[in-house]
Amino acid sequence: MTWRVDRWQRGDEPSLRAWFDARDSAFRHDHRGLPDDPWEEVRLVASTDRPATATERLVLRTESGDVVGGAQVDLPLEDNEDVAEVDVFVAPPHRRRGGGTALLGAVREVARGHGRTRLVAEVGGPLGEEPPGAAFARAHGGSAALAEVRRVLDLQGAQLDPPPVPGGYEALGWTGTPDDALLEDLARLRVAMSVDVPMGDLDWKPERWDAGRTRASYEWPHECGRTVVSTAVRHTASGRLVGWTDLAASRFTPEHAYQWDLLVDRDHRGHGLGLVLKVLNLRRFREACPGSRCVHTWNAAVNRHMIAINEAVGFRPLEEWEEWLLPL
Ligand SMILES: CC(C)(COP(=O)(O)OP(=O)(O)OC[C@H]1O[C@@H](n2cnc3c(N)ncnc32)[C@H](O)[C@@H]1OP(=O)(O)O)[C@@H](O)C(=O)NCCC(=O)NCCS
Repeated sequence: MTWRVDRWQRGDEPSLRAWFDARDSAFRHDHRGLPDDPWEEVRLVASTDRPATATERLVLRTESGDVVGGAQVDLPLEDNEDVAEVDVFVAPPHRRRGGGTALLGAVREVARGHGRTRLVAEVGGPLGEEPPGAAFARAHGGSAALAEVRRVLDLQGAQLDPPPVPGGYEALGWTGTPDDALLEDLARLRVAMSVDVPMGDLDWKPERWDAGRTRASYEWPHECGRTVVSTAVRHTASGRLVGWTDLAASRFTPEHAYQWDLLVDRDHRGHGLGLVLKVLNLRRFREACPGSRCVHTWNAAVNRHMIAINEAVGFRPLEEWEEWLLPL
């Protein structure tokens, strides 16, 4: 089979739509109850610059020009500049004919061109089944670096009794971009989030965050149609934020919401602040996005404290995921 792999050029909407359709069909085939991002959002994401990241998209075509797969290569610009995060996909009817291999070859060229030395790819599928992406990554010299589990919560049915906020702390919340006064503390918590959660063999380096990057990390999802609801806890004696969480849904498909980060500063763990953040934010989210039906969350399989909180709230496991490292 002869394949053609082209770099997608911004503005070429027909190719982007075909790229999206291939990815969407791969998602529907490979996952249970997990839709791809909606087309309207993918369009907005592709037409804007993601903060602190350069993105390249590749389009896989058959000899006759039909688009049957593609890839996205995300290149961190502020830290972890050795890494390219990749998503390679082939529509199910066209698999096992070398299309994925052709794409990966082009991905490697792009990554080398940007001075990267390793690829990180995520694969996932139903519990107990090895996803095709894992076999593919292994066949290409990769190694599994971090095991994760995706859990889902029935948001409308969940019993979300608010736990009391422990003495010495106060909770606050916002929707969208936080006040400027919170940005420096949130930047510090983002750095902690990049190193203080289990990362397996990923060798992820501390991320560099400041107030500007933190602001942009809320503004950009908003431009792309995402509603982000956040809750934080403040240590009253010092006045500093010592934990926060973000939960997001696309306004194009509000029924599916996604748990983003949740972190409690190391010095303030053991007081139940994780559960406070989780429950208060889910409650606020349910009010802000009444169309939301379920929340998806991914945790490292060894992250037992976070998993205990999620299970207590009612999240149930649906899929196993893995981060793979692929050599260049
Ligand atoms: C992973 C994926 C891109 C592979 O696409 P593909 O076009 O089937 O890949 P190739 O035909 O080039 O496969 C190359 C080799 O990978 C291995 N492989 C791929 N899929 C496999 C599967 N389902 N079972 C076992 N081995 C598999 C085989 O060794 C295969 O060579 P062979 O067909 O000669 O035995 C495709 O299954 C997909 O889109 N999956 C969902 C997205 C994903 O997981 N991407 C992760 C990328 S790391």
